[in-house]
Amino acid sequence: MLAGPPRLLSVVSVAVVLLLGWWYLSLVHTTSATPPLKTDHSPPPKSPKKNTGFRASVDPLDFSIPLIFTPGTPKPAGSNYSRILVLPKTQKEDIFWIHAELPDIPLAVYQVDNDTAEFRVPKNKGREAMVYLTYLIDFYNDLPDTIMFFHSHRYAWHNNILMGLDTAQAIRRLSDARVARLGYMNTRCHTDPGCPDWIHMDRPVVDFDDFHKPEEKYYRKGVWDELHPGAPIPPSLSAPCCAQFAVSRERVQQVPIERFIHYRKWLLETSMDDQFSGRVFEYIWQYIFTGNAVYCPAVSSCYCDGYGICFGGEKKTQHWFEVMDERNKYYEELDGHNKEKTKAEEEGKAFEFTEEVKARMKELEAKIRSMDDEMNKLRDAAYERGKEIRNQEAERETYDDTHIWDKVEQR
Ligand SMILES: *[C@@H]1O[C@H](CO)[C@@H](O)[C@H](O)[C@H]1NC(C)=O
Ligand SMILES: *[C@@H]1O[C@H](CO)[C@@H](O)[C@H](O)[C@H]1NC(C)=O
Repeated sequence: MLAGPPRLLSVVSVAVVLLLGWWYLSLVHTTSATPPLKTDHSPPPKSPKKNTGFRASVDPLDFSIPLIFTPGTPKPAGSNYSRILVLPKTQKEDIFWIHAELPDIPLAVYQVDNDTAEFRVPKNKGREAMVYLTYLIDFYNDLPDTIMFFHSHRYAWHNNILMGLDTAQAIRRLSDARVARLGYMNTRCHTDPGCPDWIHMDRPVVDFDDFHKPEEKYYRKGVWDELHPGAPIPPSLSAPCCAQFAVSRERVQQVPIERFIHYRKWLLETSMDDQFSGRVFEYIWQYIFTGNAVYCPAVSSCYCDGYGICFGGEKKTQHWFEVMDERNKYYEELDGHNKEKTKAEEEGKAFEFTEEVKARMKELEAKIRSMDDEMNKLRDAAYERGKEIRNQEAERETYDDTHIWDKVEQR
């Protein structure tokens, strides 16, 4: 596993995951019936288009000249896209779930601790960042349409709630057209942690929030200058967390390969502790691939245009999560009572709920049941709505109406 230091935040999130767990299981049946979006498994083309994003006369490592990216053009509806799934893995980790769930997907699995593996990194350092950069460098001229970078575990608290925190589902549903259009897509739709105002590289040491942002203290001005010499320090680095994303071939090739080599050299040479050096890249992938230090797409656009799950706007999408939060609060209360009983029984004590508690528990059960029903209905309707391309279009961001396109510095 590539997990970094224990995150306090993730402990909280694990609790949420557990609460969601049993609720999700009851939904799984309806989900798995949803047809996947189209993908193509043909081999990548042999002669990709030439890199057009950068003028050859300019030093590719002069970071004072921002790369200006423009939206890509998706293929006509119904077209197939070639794909690859890039992931890091240790010898111990098992990825049987990929073979079971995504048997046809082309893979580049980097075994970071196996010197004879097919896909290798120069050094097992920098966690997943070393793997992602090595793939980009080694296959820069031989990329499929869509390149997906994920961790090797199937379920994670930082995956998407509406897809059961399941990477397999996310990969099946991921819209290649959105990746082609945006060039870069963070596969996590939820903005917390990471958005909208996250890492500040010029903040005094006393101002760190070690609880919510344990990583912030590693993003210092010196690190930024080493990685992006000449580029101004952005007011913040903000993007949905956790370093799983998809990029288009066109976008990768708009970033000069020298930059990927430079980033990897930094990772190989830095004396920063391994678990943090990899973490540093977590909040700069969006900068590398979009030029935006702040990149926080609306949750609704991500789910709807990205995965075909369309509630009909940001408000309605947020409503679903508000119901979920409330439902989870009731669940926690109910669970507290049940745990009290279990504990007493384990200790061999006699235990009876008071009449008052019994009545409250009944009330909670009813509330939870009805909220689950409401959530299921809304969710099924969103999956249904998301099947129509025009509904996906309706929730898609346009080039200039959202904050995510604000450049730190426009030239
Ligand atoms: C896309 O791929 C599928 C499965 O390989 C194939 O049946 C279909 O004809 C392809 N569609 C196009 C437009 O090439
Ligand atoms: C290391 O890689 C080789 C070549 O792919 C493979 O045969 C071997 O099983 C791998 N070792 C482990 C422990 O996975």
